[in-house]
Formats: sequence, structure tokens, C-alpha cells
Amino acid sequence: MCSMVVPLLLSTFVLYSCIGNASAGVTSAFVRNEWPSVDIPLDNEVFAVPKGYNAPQQVHITQGDYDGKAVVISWVTTDGPGSNTVRYGLSEGKYDFTADGTLQNYTFYNYKSGYIHHCLVDGLQYSTKYYYEIGSGDSSRRFWFQTPPEIDPDASYKFGIIGDLGQTYNSLSTIEHCGQTDAQAVLFVGDLSYADRYDHNDVGIRWDSWGRFVERSAAYRPWIWSAGNHEIEYFPHLREVIPFRNYLHRYPTPYVASESSSPLWYAVRRASAHIIVLSSYSPFVKYTPQWRWLAQELKNVDREKTPWLIVLMHAPIYNSNDAHFMEGESMRVVFESWFCQYKVDVVFAGHVHAYERSYRISNIQYNVSTRASYPVPDKSAPIYITVGDGGNQEGLALRFRDPQPDYSAFREASYGHSTLEIRNRTHALYHWNRNDDGKRVPTDSFVLHNQYWGDSHRRRKLKKNHLFSIISKRAYSQ
Ligand SMILES: [Fe+2]
Repeated sequence: MCSMVVPLLLSTFVLYSCIGNASAGVTSAFVRNEWPSVDIPLDNEVFAVPKGYNAPQQVHITQGDYDGKAVVISWVTTDGPGSNTVRYGLSEGKYDFTADGTLQNYTFYNYKSGYIHHCLVDGLQYSTKYYYEIGSGDSSRRFWFQTPPEIDPDASYKFGIIGDLGQTYNSLSTIEHCGQTDAQAVLFVGDLSYADRYDHNDVGIRWDSWGRFVERSAAYRPWIWSAGNHEIEYFPHLREVIPFRNYLHRYPTPYVASESSSPLWYAVRRASAHIIVLSSYSPFVKYTPQWRWLAQELKNVDREKTPWLIVLMHAPIYNSNDAHFMEGESMRVVFESWFCQYKVDVVFAGHVHAYERSYRISNIQYNVSTRASYPVPDKSAPIYITVGDGGNQEGLALRFRDPQPDYSAFREASYGHSTLEIRNRTHALYHWNRNDDGKRVPTDSFVLHNQYWGDSHRRRKLKKNHLFSIISKRAYSQ
């Protein structure tokens, strides 16, 4: 009996080892040369103030409604309130339409902000390039943006994903590299300027410099904002105790359109994607406004119209770096079962200054009275991707936990950014691009299969309908 059991156990162990090895995660051996992780000096040309009296600066746009037919255009003037008007049209220099915005300013310690303009431009046509002009006379400035395609399950679209950006030379590479990918919009996963690393009036001054820094991208492509811990800025020693003050004055979000009660959590639909933005640093436990809003918003998702369900947050739920280990655990306990129930495709987070991608796993069996408390493979679970590697002044999170946990598929302590290229309702291409000492190097890539349309029953139905439509078209053309 015993002689039979031993070979059986041995073969089971070998088989298990093979399976284990086949899906073992990879810890990249790449070592990033240390570039100085210091902020670019304020007198550098990347922060240059545009010439002319009261010229608009810190220009940026974001989606202005639920479905992508509006943008909010924001800018700052410093010499005076100036004009609130955006002039826009379908060809360069010919602005047939106007929209009027709002104006506000605020103080932070002794710092006085410039005049902050936000202007909703709505009623736009889909898939259209618009040109716009702001400011007056010789100081006016011109930009453009492209609206997304109409909400459609097979609409293709390319997102860039950036987190924890800051304003260093590495941050500059990240923005430039993302621009080279022709991403049409940026999903930003929190920690914008790192101005909170400064003190007194320099906090406000570094928010301004960051606004001028990202204008090269954000004036032309909508950035979908989410807030990180560096946006909290709770400074009792400066008597600044209202969280997110600098961020909220400067970076509006279309939260009302998704019936959210806070600009810190909201949703937008763009092309074939439904994007849900969560706030890691606002209450989210049961019965809080964010919890109640997410419960409803997940019910609003219609995968027949927007097959791709993407969630953004700042603190990652699955992270195997020593930095910020387990910080996302409280949100995991509250929201992970919903992510599986609603078959979220991918969750992007930042916070950890490195790159990491998970397998599809969940840990939703756990409760305090059972022993089941380890992530297991789960086809309904999202892939969790951490891209807190934008390049800020705090440097890289170099220490990954050893051994690499089973849930971690690939991890590397480098700077970089990601792109998600949605092809149709079933497939999207994902790339993580390492910043290899200033060069953009695609490093981690995979084909993302849609969690809703990848279901075998729906796939068969889709194939049948596709074949039917081809046969009908042929019959019609004969
Ligand atoms: Fe962070």
C-alpha cells in the first residue's frame, strides 16, 4: 500500500510543481540607473510662463459629461481675472462658437492663487477635432482636442495610464513617452504635483509649476483625474486642514453627471469603456456616500454598450512591494466582491513607485470566522495593475517582497507608463512601457480579453451573429 502511495504523492508533487512553474510570476532583473529624483528647478524652460500680459497658463482639459460630448477647459491667469470665454470651432483660427466659464481663486497659507477659470464646452460632435482659443489680444493662446467616438461596444480607443507623476526629469520622460504612443486620453491614478513635499507658500507655487508642466499634454488630451494621498494636504501647522483644497480648486471632474456627491469619486463613459474613479482617501465603508454611489453605478454599467469596465484608484489592492504593503486592504475588503460580481476588466492603481501586474485572483471567501484567507485564481476577478511609476521626487520603490506571491504576475522597479488599446468588444492590447534611462521600451504586454464578451456563451452568440451579418451582406450585394 505504502509503496503505491509514495510514487502517487511524488507524481502529484511533480505535476503541481509544473503547474506552479508554468504560472509563476516574474520579478524583472532590470535595474534602473539612478537618475536624480529631484524636481526640475523652477527657472527651467519646462515651467516657462507664457509671454504676454495676463496670458492663460496651466491649460488642461477633462471630460465634461457622462458620455464624452463635453469637455471642461481650465486655465489660470495671474495679472487679472481676464476673459472667461472659450472660442472654439472646427478649423484652426476659425472659432464660430463660444462658451463662458466660471472664475475662482483661493488662498493656501499666505499663497494667493491666480484666477482659475473652468469652462464647460458641451454639445460637441463625436469623433471630431476641435480648435480652441483662450485669453485676449496678443496674449491669447490656441490649442485643440479630439472628441471620442460615440458610445459603441466596438468603438476602438487608446488610453494612456500614468500615476504618481511629480515634476522631475523622469516625470518629463513619462509625459513625453506617453505622448509618443498616440494615446487619446490619459487615465491618471493620483498623486499629481507632489507640491505637498514643500512648505509654506512653495506648496501653491509648485502646484502652479506642475500645471504649466503638464499643459504640453493635458491641454490637448483629456486627463481623467483621480486623487492620491499627496492631494490631501492636511497641514495643521499652516492652519490648512480642509483636505484636497489645492487639487479641488484646480482639477474639476464631471461628478454630477454620474450622480456622485463628490468630485473625488465619479464615472465617465468613453467610446466602449465605462471608467469608474474611486477615492482611496475618502470614506468608503458600508453606507457611506462613496459606497452607496458605487453600489448604484455598478448597476448602471451596460456591458452591451460599454463592454470595458475599468476602475481607477490610488492605493493598490494587490501589491507585493514593501512600500505601502497592505495599504489597500481596507478597500479590498469592502469592494473586491463587487469587482468580481460585476466582472471588472482591469483595476489601475498608483501609490507604489514601481510597476506590478496581478493574475486574475480574488480573496473574497475570507471572513473573520473562517480560515480561507488567501487569494485564489478567479476567472471573474479583474487584473490589478500598479503604475505608480510616473517618476516623482520620492524615487523608486526598489524592495519587492520575497518570494514573489502567487498573485503577482510581473513586477519591476522602474519608471514608466501604460497604454490600453481597445480594439473591439472582445479584445484590447495592453503595454507597460519602461522608461529605460530616457528611452521608451515596451516591456510587459498582453492581450486583455473582455470579461463580459469573453464569456463562452456570449462569444458563440457573437460569432453566430457576425456570420449571419456577413451572409446577409453577401446576399444583399448579389
Ligand atoms: Fe501615493
